[in-house]
Amino acid sequence: MTNATTRWHAIDDPRDLARHACARVLAAAGEAIAERGRFDIVLAGGGTPRRTYALLAAALARWESWHVWFGDERCLPTGDAERNSHMARITWLDQVRIPASQIHPIPAERGAVAAAAAYGDALAGLGEFDLVLLGLGEDGHTASLFPGQDWGTQADAADALAVFNAPKPPPERVSISAARLARARQVLFLVEGAGKREAVARWRRGEAIPAAAVMPAAGVDVMVDQALLVPVD
Ligand code: 6PG
Repeated sequence: MTNATTRWHAIDDPRDLARHACARVLAAAGEAIAERGRFDIVLAGGGTPRRTYALLAAALARWESWHVWFGDERCLPTGDAERNSHMARITWLDQVRIPASQIHPIPAERGAVAAAAAYGDALAGLGEFDLVLLGLGEDGHTASLFPGQDWGTQADAADALAVFNAPKPPPERVSISAARLARARQVLFLVEGAGKREAVARWRRGEAIPAAAVMPAAGVDVMVDQALLVPVD
């Protein structure tokens, strides 16, 4: 199943999805490091990537050349277990030797406005991401780009957005904008969870959900639980 920009990869088993995703991340890293000497990856939040991050923790890679960014962060105190960076650290990043200076958490503990400004400064001067990992919410959100809010799709959108009143708690967040997420060589969505069936159907019908707003020139790949691909009318 494909169209010019969104390539759907139906996968039966969540363990397989993680294995495929891990292989894709490692392949992208090898290519980027061979070609440019570094690998800039944006991590997805939420729970879906956990298995993939656990597999990466056991992988062999040239970690010294990795630079890790975060697609979004929840405005919670540093070290809060509900922060997206916390899961990535305990599951993966604290197990491998990526230099601390090359892991770039969003300083969301400063509040959305200050943290978005700071992250925009951190991203300034960085070219295309090599790989962006994203999840999908039941309402079609991705990162912290939610329906009815500003997704930052315009070319001159800020790189990082302050988010308030998010329908998925906590209400205050920071998100990389859709335009900046799309400035990437590869974008890979990881989608599982029975509650996402309708969001996937809306996406495949071409509806304007936030996930569909992240559209790099090379298109996107969506690794999706086979059970979510109900026939689209
Ligand atoms: C967050 C994420 C969010 C997440 C989706 C899917 O802060 O939760 O940034 O965009 O990726 O809501 O979450 P699950 O993977 O837990 O279903």
